[in-house]
Amino acid sequence: MRVAEKPDEERRGPATKSGGAFLNPAMAGSRTRSVLLLQHAIESGMLGDGTIYALDGLASTGVRARRWLNELPPESAERLDVVMGDLDGESLSWARSNHLEFPPSHGKGELNAVRGDLRAMVLNHGRHWVDIDPYGSPVPFLDTAVQSLARGAVIEVSATDTAALTGSSKGPLLRRYGARVRTDGLAHDSALRVLLATLARTAAKHDRAIVPLMSIWDSHHLRVSARTIKRKGAASDVEDNLGWRVYSPSADEVEASIAAGLHPETSLEILPMNCMLPLSHPVTRDDSRVSGPLWVGNMGDEGAMSSMTEERALSLCTAPYDSEDVAGWSEKDFEREARRVSRSVRNLEEESRVIDSPHHIVVDDLSSWLEMPGPPSPRLLADCLEERGFKAGLTHYGNPSIRTDAPWDVVAGVALSLQPPM
Ligand SMILES: C[S@@+](CC[C@H](N)C(=O)[O-])C[C@H]1O[C@@H](n2cnc3c(N)ncnc32)[C@H](O)[C@@H]1O
Repeated sequence: MRVAEKPDEERRGPATKSGGAFLNPAMAGSRTRSVLLLQHAIESGMLGDGTIYALDGLASTGVRARRWLNELPPESAERLDVVMGDLDGESLSWARSNHLEFPPSHGKGELNAVRGDLRAMVLNHGRHWVDIDPYGSPVPFLDTAVQSLARGAVIEVSATDTAALTGSSKGPLLRRYGARVRTDGLAHDSALRVLLATLARTAAKHDRAIVPLMSIWDSHHLRVSARTIKRKGAASDVEDNLGWRVYSPSADEVEASIAAGLHPETSLEILPMNCMLPLSHPVTRDDSRVSGPLWVGNMGDEGAMSSMTEERALSLCTAPYDSEDVAGWSEKDFEREARRVSRSVRNLEEESRVIDSPHHIVVDDLSSWLEMPGPPSPRLLADCLEERGFKAGLTHYGNPSIRTDAPWDVVAGVALSLQPPM
């Protein structure tokens, strides 16, 4: 991949300008994962076997769409018919000229730029792949984007209104997403689940079910990617995947969670930090322990996430050092870029094995909850749980954490054996 800027691994969102157009280097990891996910979707047959109509709906410089074409293997790229859409003509002319100057080396795939409002553009015809990457909240674009999806399709949705989604700005969260989120170590996990719930409800209005493929918190933004399947009855299924997350649940609440299949059987002597409850469970509006309504189903898909290996990311999304590099990158720049690409998929393959686990445990929170002298090593905790026959693995989450299907009494026992209270 060639960009007109040097890689800058320290930079964190939200915005920079490239010429007159918006280009955010902090989103580079999100674009890397998008290339890998598209390749997985093509290989797995999720997008059929014909032309793949894709829309980079809020494209700005078109860097995401150009990366799909430039970095996918030729046999995948040649199936793509991509539109980069944006309201801003200056951004699109930057996108066009970059594409002409740096076309895919294999010369495969179609790329066109269309100036206009995404909400009108998406209705032109069905798409197999739709990317929505707005400033702030994706909510204004969701309804029309979902209607434009082919019967079997994938939608990727970013949100940078993180303060709202993580519960720091309660008013906007309630207004835009109809939810509330407790601001704790799992706030970003809850935020991703609120975003999935919003996408699922929107999809259900148009007879579509969602299957989450990947849900990622990356510095200043959140992003969910889901497969959508058109079928009648999708609206009733969505309710089964919505519910509440309760911090510091009572024994009755944990029992209700176990009965709903949302929590592993456990003794109730040491109560867990959190549990999920179904949407039908009565919760009090002003109960500050409660987050939701949110998605209580899986946040990702094992196949999609296991395709995000460092080896694959490096092989698809980096180029070997070239002393005559057109963007003037030095050897160190190439090395730094390779590190950044590796980092963008760190732990995702490991997390794929445990993505269907009921517990997501932030180790800092665990040590406070169990009054331990310090947080246990997540690696050690996961390994010990695996030795006891449970699934456990590290996550790609911003706070050090693990996912596991071990019962809470086992988790607590293992953690306390690693770091007994003083
Ligand atoms: C965050 S930027 C997109 C960044 C880009 N996807 C990337 O990976 O670098 C959001 C873009 O949405 C465009 N935009 C905002 N409202 C729009 C609308 N209603 N229809 C089409 N484009 C819109 C803006 O001009 C801006 O270029």
